[in-house]
Amino acid sequence: MLEGKRVLLGVTGGIAAYKAVEIASRLRKLGAEVNVVMTASATEFVTPLTFRSISSRPVYTEMFEEPKVWDVEHISLAKWADVALVAPATANIMAKMAIGLADDFLSTVLLAVTSPVFIAPAMNHAMYHHPATQKNRAILEQRGVRFIGPATGYQACGTEGDGRMSEPEEIVRELEAYFRSKEIMKGQKVLVTAGGTRELLDPVRYIGNFSSGKMGYAIAQAFEEAGADVTLISASTAQVEPANVKLIRVQSALEMYEQVLALYEEQDIVVKAAAVADYRPADFKEQKIKKKGENLVIELVPNPDILAALGERKKHQFLVGFAAETQDVVANALEKLRRKNADMLVVNDVTKPGAGFGSDTNIVSFLFQDGRRIDYPLMSKTEVARELVREIAAIRQGTGIKE
Ligand code: CTP
Repeated sequence: MLEGKRVLLGVTGGIAAYKAVEIASRLRKLGAEVNVVMTASATEFVTPLTFRSISSRPVYTEMFEEPKVWDVEHISLAKWADVALVAPATANIMAKMAIGLADDFLSTVLLAVTSPVFIAPAMNHAMYHHPATQKNRAILEQRGVRFIGPATGYQACGTEGDGRMSEPEEIVRELEAYFRSKEIMKGQKVLVTAGGTRELLDPVRYIGNFSSGKMGYAIAQAFEEAGADVTLISASTAQVEPANVKLIRVQSALEMYEQVLALYEEQDIVVKAAAVADYRPADFKEQKIKKKGENLVIELVPNPDILAALGERKKHQFLVGFAAETQDVVANALEKLRRKNADMLVVNDVTKPGAGFGSDTNIVSFLFQDGRRIDYPLMSKTEVARELVREIAAIRQGTGIKE
């Protein structure tokens, strides 16, 4: 998987810097090209010469030294990389990346990198668990940065706990898994819906819901990363437009219904992560509703159930629904799965802390037609999305639906 792959290895100042030498060496043996960038403090632990000998390339340390080739180096290096790996990553580089600080060569390159970024943290476990570091990790994860470790065990400062860098072997295995995962959805057409629909009452008011769109956007991105051709139909959200995904914006459940059905036939996989309003006002008032001091009764009529409509028309498609439940979670969800004829349901108990609307994390179970169920611990929405893609890929390869 690593043959000919271009890895930008950022080494920051921690005792684990010596292990980065083994990472570089393993990557080279597996056929990867490696360019090493060291922070000034990393050079206190290991010399650039060590990395130069292993990578057979010059090692980058300073922002304004005489260039090795005549080029804007931090930009050309960033463009060159298929993947960037920071190992070991100190609390300091994580903080700089989280706020976009670029005050040395490595942080500047990392700001310019558009390829996926992996981080293998290495620090004292109290530093790792400091709320600031945890917040920085959450920010970076939400941006799609992938973390490897940290591992648990003896630390150089004499304490035990999590914070030490994962072993070079594991870090390299993760990179291999990433390059493998880029292929698992190749050639698949995927439609994802996200956000919360808005049902207009008059020109200035609507009935909406608390959906942030985070889960659906993370799913669209995870499919894109896995090589799929992704269309995202998005209702209201503040999420940024994901790269390389066709984005169609809609407002109401009816608009979403029309767009989804129009594109359904050509899809291989459909994931309905949107929070769709079950009802809409019976009529839309052309003029703003004036207050009259009396009770106001708004009549609501049912919206079509998009997932159920897709279930009815299902041919070759693999159909995934979501279920936000507050009681009898699994029983209700299984009933929903069968009634709507979905192949899989992502279920979350929205009453649990860390699950559901607005949060960066989720606690989900995957549920299948045959009653099979996988329960997951608290994970970031990005991790849930990647797990979903992996699980669907495994099922479709196993059943041969893919062909
Ligand atoms: N859904 C849909 N169209 C609707 C309502 C829901 O496509 N009009 C989809 C959602 O996108 C989600 C799944 O159905 O994938 C389940 O949504 P949920 O709100 O949990 O279920 P409901 O069918 O609305 O059931 P209830 O409100 O009774 O729990």
